[in-house]
Amino acid sequence: MTRHSVVLIPGDGIGPETSHAMQEVVSASGAQIDWVMAKAGAACIDEYGTPLPEETIEAIKEYHVAIKGPVTTPVGTGFRSVNVALRKTLDLYVNLRPVISIPGAGGRYDDVDLVVVRENTEDLYAGIEFEEGSEEALELISFISRMGKGDIRKDSGISIKPISVTATRDIVDFAFDYAVKHGRAKVTAVHKANIMKHSDGLFLREARSVAEGYDGRIAFDDRIIDAFCMNMVMDPSQFDVIVFPNLYGDIASDLAAGLVGGLGIAPGANIGRECAVFEAVHGSAPDIAGKNLANPTAEILSAAMMLDHLGEDAAAERIRAAIRAVYAKGETLTGDIRRAEGHAAPPASCTDFTAAVVRELA
Ligand code: NAI
Repeated sequence: MTRHSVVLIPGDGIGPETSHAMQEVVSASGAQIDWVMAKAGAACIDEYGTPLPEETIEAIKEYHVAIKGPVTTPVGTGFRSVNVALRKTLDLYVNLRPVISIPGAGGRYDDVDLVVVRENTEDLYAGIEFEEGSEEALELISFISRMGKGDIRKDSGISIKPISVTATRDIVDFAFDYAVKHGRAKVTAVHKANIMKHSDGLFLREARSVAEGYDGRIAFDDRIIDAFCMNMVMDPSQFDVIVFPNLYGDIASDLAAGLVGGLGIAPGANIGRECAVFEAVHGSAPDIAGKNLANPTAEILSAAMMLDHLGEDAAAERIRAAIRAVYAKGETLTGDIRRAEGHAAPPASCTDFTAAVVRELA
């Protein structure tokens, strides 16, 4: 069996617990992984002067594949989000989040099988912001007024929403290519083109244009984001591959995760042309960190996506089957799932759940 080197960033909060669980399960799957440990987050600042050390970025560039636990972004400290910085620095332009029902995980539906493809580099996430009352904000407000584009209140903060032809075509192409390679039937583009004509309107126009190139092979349709949310809650089985600009994709992936059992089971990946960083959808969950209560399923399923990416499909499938088996038995489930399922029985710890998955792999 081929050995692979993978960079592992455990992160903070529940990250070290879920990452350790993930390593145990990957090891039990038979995949041969050499872990290259790397750091990110607030704990790095004293040592490196930054939450995202250069040597972490260099390690990912060298080994091309990484898996990362969540990293806390303190609110209002000027601390740059490690996640956004990683995506930008490594041009990880795709955020891929499969959302699949796991029977026994407390989801509202048992037949969800969709893939969220979220643009990862621009939109309101581009980080182009002007603080309320700042010289730049006031200059921008008067420029917009001089251009006859409208009057903005002087006490406004402003965030800019760039959506480019290039990034839109790249992400929609990825969504169609993914659909072809994974035997999917339809791509849906989600937008608010009726209101934001020059950003979301561009997104929809370019999505339609890319779709023409796949005419007859993969179906295409589109939804306005508000109607999409209602459709998702009422009947998620109508969706297959769904492609979003950055912000809507972020919100919709939590919505989708909620329909199948919550953040504890939602895996993801950030993919670029050179590198891929796999990570769960959830954050560092400070409320349960260090208590051995976290559900490691999302990070374990992110590792299964990573193994697919490395060509270790058999190990990936063994892991997914082991997870399904543990949920189907329902004896060793963490608190987040127990609550969703309405069980009164005491929840399993992160380590008990992990041991149950490892037993299924034996
Ligand atoms: P969160 O996802 O950390 O937690 C939301 C709720 O879900 C909490 O009640 C938490 O206990 C629960 N939860 C999340 N993951 C769970 C798991 N694996 N098992 C059981 N319960 C789980 O979101 P929140 O509280 O908004 O963010 C906390 C921090 O994480 C923030 O600093 C945020 O910026 C950061 N964050 C980091 C991400 C990353 O590194 N990729 C992604 C999202 C947020």
